[in-house]
Amino acid sequence: MNETFFAPCPRGLENALTAELSLLGAVAPQTLSGGVVFHGDLSLAYRVNLESRLASRVLWHVAKQPYQNEQDLYTITYDIDWSRLFSAERTLRVDLTATRSPLTSLSFATLRIKDAICDRFRAEGQLRPSIDKQSPDVRVYAYLTDKEATLYLDTSGEALFKRGYRKNSEEAPLRENLAAGLLLLTGWTPDIPLLDPMCGSGTIATEAALIAARQAPGLHRGFGFQKLHWYDGPTWQRIKQKALDAVCPAPETPAIFAGDVSEDALERAKAYAAHARVADWITFSTGNACRREAHASTGIWLTNPPYGVRLEASQTLTALYPALGTTLKRSFAGWHAWFFSGDQQLPKLIGLKPERRIPLFNGALDCRLYGFKIVEGSMRRNKPAPDVSS
Ligand SMILES: C[S@@+](CC[C@H](N)C(=O)[O-])C[C@H]1O[C@@H](n2cnc3c(N)ncnc32)[C@H](O)[C@@H]1O
Repeated sequence: MNETFFAPCPRGLENALTAELSLLGAVAPQTLSGGVVFHGDLSLAYRVNLESRLASRVLWHVAKQPYQNEQDLYTITYDIDWSRLFSAERTLRVDLTATRSPLTSLSFATLRIKDAICDRFRAEGQLRPSIDKQSPDVRVYAYLTDKEATLYLDTSGEALFKRGYRKNSEEAPLRENLAAGLLLLTGWTPDIPLLDPMCGSGTIATEAALIAARQAPGLHRGFGFQKLHWYDGPTWQRIKQKALDAVCPAPETPAIFAGDVSEDALERAKAYAAHARVADWITFSTGNACRREAHASTGIWLTNPPYGVRLEASQTLTALYPALGTTLKRSFAGWHAWFFSGDQQLPKLIGLKPERRIPLFNGALDCRLYGFKIVEGSMRRNKPAPDVSS
């Protein structure tokens, strides 16, 4: 129980991640800005990598020491017997982030850390590990404050939001762990009908389906810890089997609905849900969100509508948002509607007063999740919504 880990997550989801980690068995989780520190044994890293829906990575704490200059960083790093942690045949990448560090060049600091690791391997009579920036076997993370340097070994490999069910080539997709976090923040649970009427590649619906199916998000991918010396295959297989056994079959009538005006987007969303093995949990339909009717008397509408900085897009967008507001008032009384957006002006055009306004980050982008309670009688019924599908 004496290992320390740090799990970064999208900013705004730290409290939700702390709660999730506690449920997964993390000891004494401590919420920080941008992530959570927690404790446990090494097998906890297997479970968190496999089951966390919110963490971006799980970093294993290797050392923490005061430093003043690059030479100190070299010494701190060299003092660790890296050959006991991973083999010299593994390819390596070193990343460094810093807050208030006195060092003038962070690239030079990163280089010194990389040299110290390689020199230590040589001093143990082994090869120098080669560097691979694209897809390394092993990633070392250094985090510098003004006075202290912390070194971590990454146990995740590819970031955990890369569940493996979609290509990340399409425009403006939500990160998978952010989509899972949005669902949590809205209070959605699998017994509540859910609609994403502008689903794009379907991230929100697919993450909802994974939650409803009790399918661990990392069930069909590999992890960085499998390349470290402490990796224990039988323990990992046992944890993974337990997660496989927990998966539920899809219901006859799915309560998760996803739509998009673009047929291409919808085809992609269907394909990704199928890759994630949850296509049967979702009803997909092409159509204009402004012409949607509610499929239940109450439910959660959660969507990430288009927003853009291009001038030619702005007219279409300024027409879209009021039309969505009209649709909600006309057909979704009794529902809660949530909009996730990186634009803080456009949601004002919906014409409803948000009950909640939650700050969040999508990568580096400052965003908000706006929550609206749609009440009966705010508008005459049957008023047609303007067509803004073009
Ligand atoms: C920002 S993207 C959504 C991205 C999505 N959250 C994802 O993770 O891939 C916005 C989507 O809204 C769709 N859209 C735009 N106007 C629409 C409308 N009137 N009705 C339905 N979908 C619309 C676009 O085709 C686009 O796929």
